[in-house]
Amino acid sequence: MKAIAKAHTNIALIKYWGKRNEQLFLPMNNSISITLDRFYTTTSVSFQEDLSSDRFLLDGEEVGGKERQKISSFLDLIRNTANKQYFAVIDSVNQVPTAAGFASSASGFAALAAAATKAIGLDLDDTGLSRLARQGSGSACRSIYGGFVEWNKGERADGVDSFATQILDENGWNVSVLSIMVEAKQKKVLSREGMRRTVETSPFYSGWLESLETDLVGTREAIQRRDFEQLGMILEHNALKMHATTLGANPPFLYWTNATVEVMQRVQELREVGVEAYFTIDAGPNVKVICQLKDEQKVKEGLQSLNCVQDIFLCHPGPGISYLTT
Ligand code: ADP
Ligand code: DP6
Ligand code: CO
Repeated sequence: MKAIAKAHTNIALIKYWGKRNEQLFLPMNNSISITLDRFYTTTSVSFQEDLSSDRFLLDGEEVGGKERQKISSFLDLIRNTANKQYFAVIDSVNQVPTAAGFASSASGFAALAAAATKAIGLDLDDTGLSRLARQGSGSACRSIYGGFVEWNKGERADGVDSFATQILDENGWNVSVLSIMVEAKQKKVLSREGMRRTVETSPFYSGWLESLETDLVGTREAIQRRDFEQLGMILEHNALKMHATTLGANPPFLYWTNATVEVMQRVQELREVGVEAYFTIDAGPNVKVICQLKDEQKVKEGLQSLNCVQDIFLCHPGPGISYLTT
């Protein structure tokens, strides 16, 4: 009753921001992402008859409290479906900073969903895994697949039609994503809390939703046509709109630091001298810069010279989930 799975993180080009049902992780809007080759989680799950509770080890350290509770509630979904009430030892290693805006929750819950279902003997297809991973962390439903992925929000109240599908596989369009680390600390406002507060209190949230369909249509079209400029213009605009909603929340909050703004401005300066690069930012201060393969060294040099930049991780489209032999 043991299995090991690996899942990569993904970066949203069109953001998932807001839930219509918190319990089932049903989003207000569709989102589109790229799965990244450089960042991933490897998780081993072993169900055992003699355990009296779940044990969660993250990067070799025992985790308790609320964090372990999140894992146990997620495993309950799997135990109930399989009709087997064994507890498990979960041993997970993040090759990505945890809770710093690099999408550890996406690779974390995608790997956990894959390993736990396999270990308990449930045979789910990718759609089933995506639907399940969604209920650990919304963005995790996109990490089941490689390449360019869209999460369809679905219409139903029970969430059966809310899962991701692949738009292009990881070999379909080789763009470069530079993950710019300006701060490795864990964020103060977790994504979950940030989006909840925004939906409940921000007067800008309705504007976010109203303009989404246009962004989605344009992004799908840009991916199909491999139109980099169109993709870049939309993704940068979409990220800024998402962050604008947080300023209207009550109490208001902002994920950016001075360093975030410096990186954003450098990207815009690069464009002024003809280097096509665009930025996006998730729930944290770190920035992801997207450019074409031919420009990745120029973009790297342009950003490295900023004092606030601690590290640059060069990423490309990566694969979906895989299983490792035990
Ligand atoms: P991030 O930007 O890293 O996705 P979030 O605030 O969305 O930050 O999520 C952080 C949460 O993701 C953690 O508090 C933890 O609950 C969960 N998480 C991170 N890594 C793992 C993992 N390897 N396995 C299971 N859950 C994880
Ligand atoms: C800004 O999937 O981390 O990164 O569903 O509450 O676990 P929960 O949140 P999470 O939210 C991600 C928000 C985002 C945008 C995105 O990845 O689409
Ligand atoms: Co997350």
